Amino acid sequence: MAFKISIIGASGYTGGELLRWALIHPEMQVAQVTSERFAGIPVTKLNPNLRSFTQAEFVSVKKLNTDVDALFLCLPHKVSAPYAKQFIETGAKIIDLSADFRIHNKDVYAKYYQEHPCPELLAKAVYGIPELHREEIKKAKLVACAGCLATSVILAAAPLVKAGLIENSTIIADSKIGSSASGAAFDISTHHPERQGVVRSYKPSGHRHTAEIEQELNEIAASVGAPTKVSVGLTPHAIEMVRGILTTLHARLLSPAKDIDLWKAYRSFYTGSPFIRIVKDKETLYRYPEPKCVAGTNFADVGFEIDPERPRIIIMSAIDNLVKGSGGQAIQDFNLMFGLDEKTGIWQPGFHPI
Ligand SMILES: NC(=O)c1ccc[n+]([C@@H]2O[C@H](COP(=O)([O-])OP(=O)(O)OC[C@H]3O[C@@H](n4cnc5c(N)ncnc54)[C@H](OP(=O)(O)O)[C@@H]3O)[C@@H](O)[C@H]2O)c1
Repeated sequence: MAFKISIIGASGYTGGELLRWALIHPEMQVAQVTSERFAGIPVTKLNPNLRSFTQAEFVSVKKLNTDVDALFLCLPHKVSAPYAKQFIETGAKIIDLSADFRIHNKDVYAKYYQEHPCPELLAKAVYGIPELHREEIKKAKLVACAGCLATSVILAAAPLVKAGLIENSTIIADSKIGSSASGAAFDISTHHPERQGVVRSYKPSGHRHTAEIEQELNEIAASVGAPTKVSVGLTPHAIEMVRGILTTLHARLLSPAKDIDLWKAYRSFYTGSPFIRIVKDKETLYRYPEPKCVAGTNFADVGFEIDPERPRIIIMSAIDNLVKGSGGQAIQDFNLMFGLDEKTGIWQPGFHPI
């Protein structure tokens, strides 16, 4: 028997992507999808890719029937938390894609976002990267999916921090990100004449995702008794791409390392993690991770290079922000929360060429 789910905020980009996966998931039955602006309108008017897969119409969240197994919240931060508080009482498991429950410390949340509307729920939430928190996610009632940039940075850096190979305070993450990461609501920065052809730094320091990245990497550092705390300089760039993130991470090696040390660190950290592919090829065109190679999939491709002349390591990670960076990660979390194989419904290769 399939699990009943509903998606709150399904007219947006993450909600639409989540719905795409949910409709073909063998263990999910989509009960309702909400939108305030498009209530009463068929879903396929906004998501033409779903023609023949659903005849559903958007409903207002006021008409939501909460008698379901899981609710996915694909809402802006601050909007999401009060809904989570209301819905958690119904017994449905909550998977929140916003930033509202990612940060454990309410003061850190307040520094990067605003005062938290329901801080008492923070301790209940599990951070939603399965490769870091698989066992906790299995038991969770409230999962906070990670930010898309944060996912790409954390998946690149976590094995290095765990293996104690780098000076933890020297991590620099330079990310290129596609326009869908800003959501479907109109904004001048994603208006075609402004965005077309762009390579734009928009938050060279102090990006909000820094908080969750440092939280998660410092937990790993503490677990191995690292002498220094992790500090990450994150600089994202908006580029001309709709989906995808490429993060190039730089850090200083603590002592000279060889490729074999890196292979060991990454393989051992990601044993049992089917969606992580280590990509490092000497010969082909596709030597390192590329967003095009993971577009439309739940894979995170991670690759590395040691600078032979300097004590420096370079890690590349590529994800699709709407899949591994949000909707696909949410389904992977759902699978774990409901005792399913984490690959269920999302084990799919990408396109080539694209
Ligand atoms: N885009 C990404 O790549 C990405 C990746 C990871 C995480 N996230 C996070 O995921 C969340 C959703 O992002 P998105 O890109 O999908 O945003 P989006 O495209 O702007 O969609 C937002 C959704 O929220 C609904 N909504 C807004 N205010 C509401 C309210 N007061 N009550 C009920 N529904 C409301 C909108 O529905 P209406 O039709 O009613 O306006 C829409 O369906 C955000 O917190 C974002 O930070 C996004």
